[in-house]
Amino acid sequence: MSMLKDTYPLYLNNKAQQPNTDLEVTDKFTGEVAFRVALADPETIDKAIVGAVAAAEPMAKLASYEKQDVLMHCVNSFKERFDELAYALCVEAGKPIKDSEGEVTRLIDTFRIAAEEAVRNYGEIMPLDISERAKGYSSMWKRYPIGPCSFISPFNFPLNLAAHKIAPALAVGCPFIIKPASKTPLGTIIIGEILAECDILPEGAFSVLPASRDGADLFTEDERLKLLSFTGSPAVGWALKAKAGKKKVVLELGGNAAVIIDHDTDLDDALERVVFGAFYQSGQSCIGVQRIIIHEDVYDRFKEMLVAKTKTLIAGDPKDRDTFVGPMISEGEATRLKGWIDEAVEGGATLLTGGDLSNGNMLEATLLENVDKDARAMNDEAFGPLAILQKFSDFDAALDEVNRSEFGLQAGIFTRDLFKMYDAWDKLEVGGIVINDVPSYRVDNMPYGGVKDSGLGREGIRFAMEDMSEIRNLVVRRT
Ligand code: SIN
Repeated sequence: MSMLKDTYPLYLNNKAQQPNTDLEVTDKFTGEVAFRVALADPETIDKAIVGAVAAAEPMAKLASYEKQDVLMHCVNSFKERFDELAYALCVEAGKPIKDSEGEVTRLIDTFRIAAEEAVRNYGEIMPLDISERAKGYSSMWKRYPIGPCSFISPFNFPLNLAAHKIAPALAVGCPFIIKPASKTPLGTIIIGEILAECDILPEGAFSVLPASRDGADLFTEDERLKLLSFTGSPAVGWALKAKAGKKKVVLELGGNAAVIIDHDTDLDDALERVVFGAFYQSGQSCIGVQRIIIHEDVYDRFKEMLVAKTKTLIAGDPKDRDTFVGPMISEGEATRLKGWIDEAVEGGATLLTGGDLSNGNMLEATLLENVDKDARAMNDEAFGPLAILQKFSDFDAALDEVNRSEFGLQAGIFTRDLFKMYDAWDKLEVGGIVINDVPSYRVDNMPYGGVKDSGLGREGIRFAMEDMSEIRNLVVRRT
């Protein structure tokens, strides 16, 4: 039996409103309409910005323990509503139920970390007497909330990537408006429902506004908003930045993450992790493994193991607990990636397993080798169940191959060699390196973000809190 309602409201200035039910959200496996959601028009978004501006001062004045209470209320409610949240993700994103439960667990972590950080908003005292002219002077600095924030969150982690914006904003004391992805708005709406129970939040502290892309320009362009934090595709993210005016911009964009398998690797251990990294939630993660760069001494053996293991992955209904590979988010996305796979094969690549598309958006877990270096499947972000095998003989050349990408989010290296680890840390142009695991590994308190086309800034609560606040310095002359 469905745990979902037929219709869901938007949240304007902390309150539920149901002006319409214009947004149809489908079950991504059956393709049927699962529920309807209110869509915000530009006038509603404007009201939310007016509310957020009015809430900036009272939000900044909230005591640390009050912000912590709000965040802990969310943690407790998420725990109580765990099954409902996981089911909502499973339906609206087509995310296999076990992955959905994993995301709710991470959501709880993310808010819990923010609750802890809310009471650690420390500053610093600096002596300024570094030369004769500053004798008797010192300074103290603290962080002050930046003001109303604008958030745009993606479809692939509808709960936890919204949480990486909402939770630090609450911990700092910034009001915010958020536009969830139109294909998966429900996770954020439920967060809105839970926040609406917090009377301590001043009116205007938050608005959750599903909106069509056309009507959502205010999220990017309105100068009353002091920060734009966007997670989504590189093309959209960089285009938004160009229109964002004077506001601070944080971009968490895509990648075509690589993992290096060195010759000294425990292949059985690496196999589990690499198959998971490549194909969990149908590869729809910015840090999903797309390129597997394998040392020539173990290439053939690891290839055989990868192909055999990939063939055992169960594909099907994401509500079924045995399912590992569910649907992609849409027929359009699945067809796009299928096109890239076919194009690579026409260009000389070998299809090792997978490659079939059925039911519109069920793309098989696919492995390719001998892919042309210029192929789209190799260079662009696949964002689906595709991984490419490559061979290397020299470790430095493997690092160069990782860096050949226009992206730089995370990379993984399986090696037992400490010196290679440090070399990789120095040389790889990425935001994070994971040793003896896949680039897809993330814990929610670590700094997370990319360089090159993968984005700007870092999330991970503490780091997002820095972006959402400004240093305010106080100079004192002691006479
Ligand atoms: C992403 O797709 O950018 C987020 C990955 C994660 O949080 O695990």
